[in-house]
Amino acid sequence: MHTVFNPVQVSREGLVEQAQDPTAPEGLIFAHAKEGKPLATPWQVASVRATLLAQHRLDDGWVLDCACGSGIQLAAYASTLERPVLGVELESARAQASAANLQTVAMHQRATESAWFTKSRILAGDGTAAQQVMTSLEDEAWVSLLHLDPARPRNSRTHALDEMQPSLHRVLNAWAPYFEGEPALILDLSPRLTLSQRTEVETLVEAVWPNLSKTWEWTSRGRGRVDRLALWAGQVAEPGILRRFVRVPPTLSDPPFVLRTSEASQAISSTVHPPKRGEYVSLLDATLVESGLASTWLGSVSKEQRFRWGVVEGRRPQLHHDHPLRLTEQDAWMVQATGRVIDMLPMELDETTVDEVVARSLEHNFKSVKLRLDIDPDLQPKVQGSLDRQLQRRHGERDGFLVRHPTAKVLLLCVSHSEQR
Ligand SMILES: C[S@@+](CC[C@H](N)C(=O)[O-])C[C@H]1O[C@@H](n2cnc3c(N)ncnc32)[C@H](O)[C@@H]1O
Repeated sequence: MHTVFNPVQVSREGLVEQAQDPTAPEGLIFAHAKEGKPLATPWQVASVRATLLAQHRLDDGWVLDCACGSGIQLAAYASTLERPVLGVELESARAQASAANLQTVAMHQRATESAWFTKSRILAGDGTAAQQVMTSLEDEAWVSLLHLDPARPRNSRTHALDEMQPSLHRVLNAWAPYFEGEPALILDLSPRLTLSQRTEVETLVEAVWPNLSKTWEWTSRGRGRVDRLALWAGQVAEPGILRRFVRVPPTLSDPPFVLRTSEASQAISSTVHPPKRGEYVSLLDATLVESGLASTWLGSVSKEQRFRWGVVEGRRPQLHHDHPLRLTEQDAWMVQATGRVIDMLPMELDETTVDEVVARSLEHNFKSVKLRLDIDPDLQPKVQGSLDRQLQRRHGERDGFLVRHPTAKVLLLCVSHSEQR
């Protein structure tokens, strides 16, 4: 039998690790146990996902997270959808933390009398033992949504599907009988899954539910890497939409930016082109590029037909173009830097060449130049600090940035473009 935690009565004894989630409103302090903190979904990511889920109709039944960790995603679902949730977690102390966190969120929202809180349950035990889970509850019921965010080995290089705990295959098979109609699945997987691993996931889902609709979702917090990669399937797939990109907004009060496409991914590739004064260089959100939706987005911010990709992989995808991008405030979230090449510096950047960069920057009236290139992490603060100090002493007016041309051995000094449409 699984141990049942009722979030209304849960004790906080033994829950010593408490932390303010930096992405959550002040006062939302979550408990973590048994090293659950690094595994927890950031509150803002969890709430954005819950808000997107709220746009779908779900059948009656439990909103279930069968490997719920500290229960952050679960609490976001419960409070946003205003539906009772069921969490299962192998580590008993983490299950207790989940129940405490659900209570924290209910108290924060002054909703401790609401059914979504009082009827929710967290169970300690194996989340793939579906029948045992159901018999541990007062009344057995259907599942309306299955969420899975499996644990992964910390230093995994391959991100192989069989490393996930619990395994996808076992979870899907265990819970399939508990859906009354078409299932609703959110599989929150490793952000580094390759295309062939994503196909493998689809095959596992198809083996249980043939022909289920599927939407892949890439989530970005603008940090130069994919934050989340999830498959939404069945009732929560968007009809006809194969891929979706979600940019979590910089502040809690803004809505997320969402892009969708019904087209299969078209691979973009970098091309070799010489450095050119006067052309524009933009460093785009790495997740946007990885999601395959960059071309869709570019179509909405520029009339240009032919972009030149300098770099398509890694933290700083680099695009070269002839006209400025026309960005709204929201579009600007997809851009790490954008501007016009004003000078070309044939050199490597280090402590011996920084003064030359300063001299050229002063010639062009810069008051600040940010490094937007890969550089030894020990060197980065020294060079940036030197640039900042030396430029601040003068009375320049322009803001800019420095990138490395992808093939020629030159640094491109760019003046930032901030015009908005
Ligand atoms: C990545 S964490 C989930 C984090 C969660 N989404 C959150 O917001 O806090 C995955 C969890 O799966 C749990 N787990 C692994 N195998 C399990 C199983 N068979 N049954 C239930 N939980 C399991 C691990 O203990 C871990 O806490």
